[in-house]
This record gives sequence, C-alpha cells and structure tokens, in this order.
Amino acid sequence: MTPNHQSLLASSIEALRLAAGHGERYLRNLEARNVAPNASALSDLQRFHEALPEGPSDPAATLDLLARYGGPATTATAAGRFFGLVVGGTLPAALGARVIASAWDQVVFNDGTSAIGVELEKIAAGWLLDLFDLPRQASVGFVTGTTMGALVCLAAARHALLAKAGWDVTSRGLNGAPRLHVAATAQMHVTNAKVLSLLGFGLEDITHVDCDEQGRMIPDAMPALTERSLVIAQAGNVNSGAIDPIGEICARAGTAGAWVHVDGAFGLWAAASPQTRRLIAGYEAADSWVSDGHKWLNTPYDCGFAICRQPQAVHAVMATVAPYLKAGDTAAPKDMVPEFSRSARGVEVWAALRSLGREGVADLVDRCCRLARLFADQLRAAGFEILNDVVLNQVVATLPGQEARMPEIAAGVRASGEAWFGPTRWRGVDAIRLSVSSWVTTEEDVRRTVAAIKAATV
Ligand SMILES: Cc1ncc(COP(=O)(O)O)c(C=O)c1O
Repeated sequence: MTPNHQSLLASSIEALRLAAGHGERYLRNLEARNVAPNASALSDLQRFHEALPEGPSDPAATLDLLARYGGPATTATAAGRFFGLVVGGTLPAALGARVIASAWDQVVFNDGTSAIGVELEKIAAGWLLDLFDLPRQASVGFVTGTTMGALVCLAAARHALLAKAGWDVTSRGLNGAPRLHVAATAQMHVTNAKVLSLLGFGLEDITHVDCDEQGRMIPDAMPALTERSLVIAQAGNVNSGAIDPIGEICARAGTAGAWVHVDGAFGLWAAASPQTRRLIAGYEAADSWVSDGHKWLNTPYDCGFAICRQPQAVHAVMATVAPYLKAGDTAAPKDMVPEFSRSARGVEVWAALRSLGREGVADLVDRCCRLARLFADQLRAAGFEILNDVVLNQVVATLPGQEARMPEIAAGVRASGEAWFGPTRWRGVDAIRLSVSSWVTTEEDVRRTVAAIKAATV
C-alpha cells in the first residue's frame, strides 16, 4: 500500500513533538552549563563524522543524535552571559513563531506563494517604521542581516545617484559611468567595505572620515560633498556604541544632494526608546537605514532590515521583473531584496514586536543599557578603566598597566565557562569588550561575569 499524506505527515508531527522536547531540555539546562562548549562536547563532535548513510533511517534517531551531541557543542547565546559580538537571544514569541513557520515551510516570494508571509512582512514593516519613526512610505526589505541590508541600500543609492547623473546603471553597468565618491566613517564596520567592493567601489573611491575619541564621525572632517557623494554614517560603533551626529551629517549632505546611509545594525534601536532617542537625533533625514532583528530585537538568526526612503530605487536594482515600481505601489518581497526564494523571516519579527509592544521594546533597550552601565560600575570598582562613554549597550574596559593581558583574560573567562566576550583594541589600547544585547541577561549575570573577570586577572 502506498503511504498517503496523512501517514507521511504523521512522522513530521512526531518529529515536531520530539524536537519540542529536545528544545525544552536544551533551554532548561542552559543556566547550568558552560557558555562556550566544554572539551568533552567538542570531542563528541566526532560522533557526527560518518559516511553518508546508504539508506533512510528513523528521523527520531537523527534528532536524538543532533540533540544529544549537537546541543552541548553550541555556544549558549540563548542564555544571559554571552556578551561577544552584538548577539541577542530569542524572545519566546519569536522562537515559537519560528517553529510554527518551519512547519508551514513558506517561500515568501510574493502573495501568491505565501499570503501570510507577505502580510506579516507588511505589518511588521509598518510597525518598524512606526517604532523608528521613519518615513512611512519607506520600503522595508527583510534580509539575513545588516550586511545584506547594506547591499540593498547601497545598491539603491548607487542607482539613484547615477540616475541623477543621467546614467542608468541597471542597463549600462559601471563601465564608463560617472564616478561616485564614498565618504564613510573611519570607524565603518568591515562588512560595509565588503558590500562596497561587491558594488564596484574601490578603496580609492572611499574617503575615511576622521572620528572623535568615542568613534563618532566628525562632520567638519567630511570632504566636500556633491550630488555624486554617498555618505556612510553609523548608529552604534561596534566597540563603543557611539552614534555619529547623523542630523548634522544629513544637513550637510542634503544641501549637496548627497545620499546618506545609516548603518544602525544595533544602534538604530536607540530610536525605539524615549531614553536613548536623543542620541540619534536627526537620523530620520537620511536616505537609507539598516538594522538587525537578530541583535537587539532578539529574533532568531538570521534577520535584518533594509529600509529605504525611495522604494523605487530599491525596486530598480532588486526587481526580477522589468517595470519599475510606481510611487505608492507595494512590491512583492522578492523584488525588494537580493534573494528570490526566501524564508518567512517577517513572521518572527511580527511575533517579537507584537509580544513586546512599543513599551516592551523600549524596556528591552533601556534594560540592556542599564546593565551595560552596571558592568562599567562594577569593572571600575575592580580596578578597570572604562575606555568609552557607556551611552548604549557596549562597554570597553582595560586594566591600566596590564593592557597586554586583555586577550588572555577574555580567553580565561571563556574557558571558565562562566561567560563569553572578546578582546578588542580601542584607540590603540588592548581591552575587553562587552555587549549587552540579550533579553534574558540579568544583574546577577553581570555580577557573575565580573567575578569571573576578577578571577581571571589574578
Ligand atoms: C555596526 C555594524 N554593522 C554591520 C554589522 C554586520 O551585521 P550582520 O552580521 O547582521 O550582517 C554589525 C555586526 O555586528 C555591526 O555591529
């Protein structure tokens, strides 16, 4: 007898049930385990090394292997003491939504392939524009992260600036095109350099604009801007958390007809709290903005937003159909981002925003900033010097006289299993760098981490 859908899907239902159990056990154990995988977990990775099976096997056995030996080899970023990079955890509603969306297996290509996927992207896009208080007609592309968001926005910028110069880059390419000039913060995140080179900008096309001691671009140090200039500003320096004076930068760029792009991978979330909004004043005058869901909003990886004041410019470079988007129209998601086939990423964003609400988002931002200040206070009390103004969720610290030991101290804490953060070099000084980005981090996590740091310094 050939199996029917009912019996085939019964094994999917069973897999879902087993996966929920494995996931539950994983989360229950997170508090007790090392943040970084321990030596036995790493050695158990050998258990995955097998020849490609010749035939099918019970899905339950595969899930069991994954949970038993895969879980311990994860880094516990879903718990409260991971302070490396800028990494959030996963909010409950976002986690549940990811599981449901996995069962749905939608391809969010257009509303023909996923009505729900497109609808929730539209709703989440409107909520993001509301939270960030950005122009409501701006386009929001749901992408894998800030890097892809920058690709969308900077490609749109290239198109719009060249179109003003009478050059259609989509049909004519870059050979012989009028030369554009990039003025970028000298503290630009490395991913922007990759995106610029993918878009055909060379190092010689970039002027790196000097920054102040907090890592903020100095507007007076910007080169003369023209309508062929593309300015890359930053909301949230990856070390200090400092935000460029975007309002002033936009005022200068606006007069010249230049395009301003804001890398707000995590710092754009400052706009979502009344307590931090003043730090980012004037950002709304820019032309494009990128931010991540997987950082401060605590959606699962991977999730970012490409926001552009001119949806037509995005459509011109991302659409896989010929006619350009008319003002006021909305486009299929696949015509606003690089990916053609794509997941229902908007579902998790919608779930995160719906479950937190405006106040919950502001509280998440404020809580992380408060815990970053607590880190700074406790580290200072332990003899550290705090090298940045702790304005957001980032702390850069060093031990005067023992700066060279900072990488060893970060490695020592990681090896202890208590917490995870990295070393950095800030303004020529070796330091440790802590980023508080998770919804589950508590004051106790900060205390435990500072205790581990103290133990690693002796
Ligand atoms: C300021 C900044 N820009 C860009 C990125 C890259 O973001 P993603 O990894 O989401 O592509 C990061 C990541 O930490 C960042 O902090």
